[in-house]
Amino acid sequence: MKKLIILTGAGISAESGIKTFRDSDGLWENHNVMDVATPEAWEKNPQLVTDFYNERRIQLSKSKPNRAHLILKELEKKFDVKIITQNVDDLHERANSKNIYHLHGELNKMRSSVDENLIYKTTKLEYSLEDKCEKGSVLRPHIVWFGEAVPMIDTAIDICKEADILVIIGTGLNVYPAAGLVNYIKDNTPIYIIDPAEVNISNMPNITHIKNKATIGCEKLMEILNK
Ligand code: OAD
Repeated sequence: MKKLIILTGAGISAESGIKTFRDSDGLWENHNVMDVATPEAWEKNPQLVTDFYNERRIQLSKSKPNRAHLILKELEKKFDVKIITQNVDDLHERANSKNIYHLHGELNKMRSSVDENLIYKTTKLEYSLEDKCEKGSVLRPHIVWFGEAVPMIDTAIDICKEADILVIIGTGLNVYPAAGLVNYIKDNTPIYIIDPAEVNISNMPNITHIKNKATIGCEKLMEILNK
């Protein structure tokens, strides 16, 4: 089976009702990302950060995978599919995709604020600063914030090196190191981009840009790949 590697970003979840980051004037759900998604924000105002991610979890609980997520699952019938996602939602999981690698963490996990190895699946939508890990420190969202290392990046690089086909869906490719993953594919690997807008990718050979929203774009992708 050919190895089909898929890199997803906020755009694939847009049609499930989750807003992308850069399509809303630099604000993310009415917040400056620096106020809610950095270690400094957590230091300065952990209540605001906790509330922000509580809202994100509530929003996610009301969202469902869309046709694009479901098509990626269907592609497993013919391809060895691995999904590297920058999204912190669980819509790929709920579409039953098998191999999912979260580069930027997961909304449905919390972790100790003193020991990054103590990670817990969430048991509720809303957390407070009273919720502690087994070592007694406050639980923080299991999210890779701006300025933090991306522990999954080496795994993602190894996966990209093996790609027979790379598909990029709904990411502006502006945030590193995720955006640099395309540089690790073998020469001449076909790349399919599904995004209604231009994305930040250097002129590589073999790029096919399907300029549609994810749901329509994934239908077209499936047709192309099934040929
Ligand atoms: P962006 O908001 O930067 O980019 C979203 C992309 O999705 C854009 O290229 C849009 O054109 C495209 N898009 C919008 N609607 C779409 C649709 N219906 N179908 C397909 N594409 C659509 O989001 P990301 O690239 O995912 O990091 O952002 C990368 C990272 O920056 C995020 O993971 C997050 C963020 O700040 C952290 O939280 C650490």
